[in-house]
Amino acid sequence: MTFTHRHLLGIEHLRPEEIVTLLDLAEEYVDLNRATQKHSDALAGLTQINMFFENSTRTQASFELAGKRLGADVMNMAMQASSISKGETLIDTAMTLNAMHPDLLVVRHPHSGAVDLLAQKVNCAVLNAGDGRHEHPTQALLDALTIRRAKGRLHRLNIAICGDIAHSRVARSNIILLGKMENRIRLIGPPTLMPAGIAEFGVEVYDDMAKGLEDVDVVMMLRLQRERMDGGFIPSEREYYHRFGLDAEKLKHAKPDAIVMHPGPMNRGVEIDGTLADDINRSVIQDQVEMGVAVRMAAMDLLARNLRTIQGAA
Ligand code: NCD
Repeated sequence: MTFTHRHLLGIEHLRPEEIVTLLDLAEEYVDLNRATQKHSDALAGLTQINMFFENSTRTQASFELAGKRLGADVMNMAMQASSISKGETLIDTAMTLNAMHPDLLVVRHPHSGAVDLLAQKVNCAVLNAGDGRHEHPTQALLDALTIRRAKGRLHRLNIAICGDIAHSRVARSNIILLGKMENRIRLIGPPTLMPAGIAEFGVEVYDDMAKGLEDVDVVMMLRLQRERMDGGFIPSEREYYHRFGLDAEKLKHAKPDAIVMHPGPMNRGVEIDGTLADDINRSVIQDQVEMGVAVRMAAMDLLARNLRTIQGAA
């Protein structure tokens, strides 16, 4: 077993063999989650606190379910109603919670780097559930598991990531993970939604879906992240859909067995055609949600094993 980390802050810090260790363990949890009896005691006796400073549906729900299935005591903090709105800083809130001896802290925050900062201040294991446009490691891991199951491997695939790359932590974590596993990555989107200096990541950049999708195995669509845009990045949603929205016509440029992915929440008719998103022969969007619970169980299990090792040595 190779996974020696204290926290899960980003894919950046993981070695390829650690990614494989985590995905292999997640496979076991996929089976457990499909069984009638879904409980294990991997986190029994441990306390997990979820702190979401940004809205979330699937990520928060799956972290909660993951913790409960593994026997942890799970608490969801309602951050809008917390002292943060009274002016308490992120670090003060974290220190207060830290004094209550949680073992696992799951944090989503609108500022890039906020979760790393917090991890330096607390004694427990911290899992990054998305920080600004920086990283969203469990999303990239669940995407990797979905791809590995659908394609039978996680290397030497042509993978297109399409849309609002500039504002997407999902894109960033996926680019790092899929690059580490030696895949060929293409980014497709309007130049206004491409981050500066992206070519340094060893990716190919396209502003034309027909060319970019040529021969790809995986098509990963992204939401237009308007909450992180200050001003007009696209002429109109209609124009955007026409050029960059994925529909059955544009998908014809990809390999005949290419899979379609989206991290959610999706805007039907903006970045993806609703019928295609629901087409279970092409779309693995629901599989991504299922894999999300298993990957989060695996991540928390591995971190908890390391916590016990550290505490045992102390
Ligand atoms: C993503 C996120 O929050 O970064 N969603 C998710 O975690 N499933 C993508 C998005 O918000 O568009």
